[in-house]
Amino acid sequence: MSGVPGITTADATGLASRLFGLDVSACPLPSERDQNLRLRTADGAEFVLKLANASEQRAVLDAENAALHHLASTGLVPRLVRTLTGDEIAHHDGHFVRLITALPGTALGTTTYQSPELRQDIGRALGTVDQALGSFDHVAFHRDFHWDLAHAGRVVREHLPLLPAGPLRNAVVTVATSYETNITPLLPSFRRSIIHSDANDYNLLVDGRTQRVTGIVDFGDMVHSHTVNDVAIAMAYVALGNDEPLAAAADVLRGYHAVHPLTEPEISALWSLMCMRLGVSACLAAKQQATRPDDEYLGISQGPIAATLPLLAAIHPRFAHYTLRHACGLPPVPQTPTVTQWIAAHAHGFAPLLGVDLATATVAPLDFSAGSTLISSDPTENCPPLLDARIATVLAAHGASIGVGGYGEARLIYHWPHESKLREPRTIHIGLDLSLAAGSTLFAPLDGTVHGFDDADHYHDYGPLIVLRHETTGTDPVEFFTFYGHLTRDSLDGLQVGQHIRRGEEFARVGSAPTNGHWWAHVHVQLVTDMLDVPCNVDGAVRASERAVWESIFPDPNLFLRIPSNRLSHHQPKADIATSRAAHIGGNLSISYGRHPLNIVRGAGQYLYDEQAHRYIDGYNNVAHVGHCHPRVVQAVSAQLALLNTNTRYLQEQLTTYAEQLTALLPSSLSVCYFTASGSEANELALRLARVHTGARDLIVMDSAYHGHTTTLIDISPYKHSGPGGEGAPDWVHTSPIPDVYRNRDVTGDPGAWFAARVGEVVDRVQARGRGLCGYIAETCPSVAGQIMLPDGFLGDVYARVRAAGGVCIADEVQTGFGRIGTHFWAFEAHDVVPDIVVLGKPIANGYPMGAVITTRAIADTFDNGMEYFSTFGGSTAACVAGLATLQVTLDERLQQQALHTGNHLLRELRGVSHRFEMLGDVRGSGLFLGAELVRDRSTREPAGAEARFVVNRMRDRGVLAGTDGPNDNVIKLRGPMPLTVADADRIIETLALGLHEVESLR
Ligand SMILES: Cc1ncc(COP(=O)(O)O)c(C=O)c1O
Repeated sequence: MSGVPGITTADATGLASRLFGLDVSACPLPSERDQNLRLRTADGAEFVLKLANASEQRAVLDAENAALHHLASTGLVPRLVRTLTGDEIAHHDGHFVRLITALPGTALGTTTYQSPELRQDIGRALGTVDQALGSFDHVAFHRDFHWDLAHAGRVVREHLPLLPAGPLRNAVVTVATSYETNITPLLPSFRRSIIHSDANDYNLLVDGRTQRVTGIVDFGDMVHSHTVNDVAIAMAYVALGNDEPLAAAADVLRGYHAVHPLTEPEISALWSLMCMRLGVSACLAAKQQATRPDDEYLGISQGPIAATLPLLAAIHPRFAHYTLRHACGLPPVPQTPTVTQWIAAHAHGFAPLLGVDLATATVAPLDFSAGSTLISSDPTENCPPLLDARIATVLAAHGASIGVGGYGEARLIYHWPHESKLREPRTIHIGLDLSLAAGSTLFAPLDGTVHGFDDADHYHDYGPLIVLRHETTGTDPVEFFTFYGHLTRDSLDGLQVGQHIRRGEEFARVGSAPTNGHWWAHVHVQLVTDMLDVPCNVDGAVRASERAVWESIFPDPNLFLRIPSNRLSHHQPKADIATSRAAHIGGNLSISYGRHPLNIVRGAGQYLYDEQAHRYIDGYNNVAHVGHCHPRVVQAVSAQLALLNTNTRYLQEQLTTYAEQLTALLPSSLSVCYFTASGSEANELALRLARVHTGARDLIVMDSAYHGHTTTLIDISPYKHSGPGGEGAPDWVHTSPIPDVYRNRDVTGDPGAWFAARVGEVVDRVQARGRGLCGYIAETCPSVAGQIMLPDGFLGDVYARVRAAGGVCIADEVQTGFGRIGTHFWAFEAHDVVPDIVVLGKPIANGYPMGAVITTRAIADTFDNGMEYFSTFGGSTAACVAGLATLQVTLDERLQQQALHTGNHLLRELRGVSHRFEMLGDVRGSGLFLGAELVRDRSTREPAGAEARFVVNRMRDRGVLAGTDGPNDNVIKLRGPMPLTVADADRIIETLALGLHEVESLR
């Protein structure tokens, strides 16, 4: 390119000094046509020195400067700095020179994470600029400029032949054809104003941490054009490279429209305009490439457009338009309100579809939602005849022959774990299901014509289906359609497209499996305001994130079926649950994911499902040890609950069998069990045993430990008593350091011996006070302390010191028992020690409330001092059955071995990932008890707590649940159900790496 200035950084510092009296350092910034350098003074003030292309006209620079002055009050644009002689434009070697202030923030294009809030803020910032520019004009901006989107049609027509044949060219042809037909005629009516015209991702500056726009730069493409083009350009660049380009563009528009409203015709052109911007860019790049065939960069820079434009071209333009209307607060489909109002006003005159008036008939609600017990988590149980039998039971219970499956229900029956990873599955049922006897006749609700019919005979498709076309009555009739799926094959016999169907005419019959797509006998009824050019097989399930738009395309058919709302199944909306929780539940009952909590409605194996029927890999919950709702545990507990559930005051073989099987897995000295209803209750009891046995009170604990929520356990849990709201340790509790070999940098020599010596010092202090030592309690793998693995030799050394001082050793295995660490069934076994008391909880009964204390005969005998021990729920019949079933599944399914296999894979992959991400400071753990510690700097190990929380939130956005813990909350905690597979592990790693990639770009 000719006329590009070519000064050195030394020239730039000279110019800054001579023209502006500034003593600066300089570094070049990228620019194609001009030359820009970032200048920095010793006290940190930053500027941009701009040297214009030799061909640049003074008038254009004057106009740009005037625009900057006009926009100064928005706080979004740089300020001009005058020369020592008071000029805004200086000269150097045939180039115009200007100095502007550098704005804070980084280019949007360098941040890999853009939240919906940031995208809205981009729209808001641009809307603010365009609003201000409404009162600005300059003759120099009334120019003919090929980047002016108003000339998109011409530019694409001229240069399209230069684009090589392929998907990109096809996409440009698609968007250009639609533009010429639909948008060109509208253009003359659009508002015009001066616009920025180049809000691309390098001209938008953002603060990645706050996800706010800090400024807009580069006013070199300003032009008098259609106002709407400005936001179309920003939308195009935000959509570029985004997995969800339409949703991303809609976010920008939402922000823009709120401050600078667009008209409906402008909105109708937006999608086409934004696609055309990318088309123009592709065509102009092809033109440049034709003149500079050796410039490889030109091809590379077009990569994102080549990837995104075909995706955009594949989205139905009317669906995109409806989505953008929704973002502007308009009804997505413009004609839908007319249709729905007409139906509501005339529905009483419609013929009953099933021949009976559903407003008064006895109908039963059939709940097929993700959280319904009608649906099994085992897909093979949701097929005929099993599902049909369950439906028949519900119908019989209601004395009904017709059942109703709801509109808008989030269903799992359309997608199961093997489907869809990153992209959101279609879960929302957007029609209404009427279940009734196969062969039942359907009557046309109103006059219409046959719009189409088909036999969609794929498994779980509609089978035979019919679409009728109708019109509203009145002066301006509007068309709409009614859709009927899962019919008998003979419903299609002799049918003709265009054939008239009269109100009340018999036109179809309800099909059955396998003809009807292998479903239970029912008709799927859907109301359609726009067929979106689909011949007849419209989607019956849609994505939850697009729900509002689809509800406008497919409104609720109950508008004419008129089934009373108390006959439909209902679930409390998520927002209402949150409100109710705030009103009735204590505020410090913590909830995960802060402002965006999850509403979980189903668990199966290592997966959880929310109310939208979206699946999450549970990488966090170690209570569902053998998998959520394991059928063997569920079956055993339900059967026991139906038979007997009482307490330990009677002889019951369930209690003794369980105690026998549990102790058989422990060292022989640990032979006596006590059962409780929780881990806390078990630790309380362990403490009582220790006190009675030693006659002493003083206890040594580990820093950051957590042993439970009761008053005494808070006293022995530094995690609680030294944290917010805590009152510190009482004088009988003595805290020893966490044996954290990563974080504690004072350690010398053998870490196990070094940390044990620190516990020894505490033992000495207790003894020096002349008080006996009751004991030592520690989690064998400290969890809330940050998924710590105790160093070798530590526990044996500590136990010896404690026992020598007369204390007992308590192993809190609430987190780690039952094979979690993979190498051993109990974590203490990995340290070659045998505790005096072992405390079990969490995973013990796969979620049935239960805890256990197991000790030696000697300790049990001293505890048996006359005072009765009784726990109402501890050791109840059902609890023992739950514990027994969980234990047996753990052994039968070899889950310890599986945890080791999956855990080793996770560890290996995490260590691999840590080479890519500076922030991943330490990776540790064993089996499915793992921690990934995030740091801001590997040498200082400054904890990256906010970053860890960010990563965990982004993992959740991508369908993986993990947690954060540790004294600095910077350790990502992974300890999900034992059935987690290597495939799940790969997904966990993938989402963790994506989160790390994003968070590192925000620094
Ligand atoms: C190590 C440890 N001990 C004891 C408990 C208390 O168990 P629960 O919540 O069942 O009372 C917990 C709970 O998180 C724990 O992590």
